[in-house]
Amino acid sequence: MKPRRKYIFICNGKDCKKNDSKSFSSSLKQAVSIAPLKGNFKLVKTKCMDCCKSGPIAVYNNQLVKKGDTDKLIQFLMKDLL
Ligand code: FES
Repeated sequence: MKPRRKYIFICNGKDCKKNDSKSFSSSLKQAVSIAPLKGNFKLVKTKCMDCCKSGPIAVYNNQLVKKGDTDKLIQFLMKDLL
């Protein structure tokens, strides 16, 4: 049986949109479409998650990634794959 994909929640609320959550989510989408991350994660857009001042934000595995820090999030993902 194929293992399930893990979810990455990306805020798509008003304030995060103002802070360019679109480019954050598109860079993440690109990152998870390349090996070795490919097929292991699913991006889910959410409404406001009440951390607007730190936006754009993402939540993965109960860890909050602030300020659109794509590198930090990819580090979490890679760590989880090992
Ligand atoms: S708009 Fe993203 S946390 Fe509020």
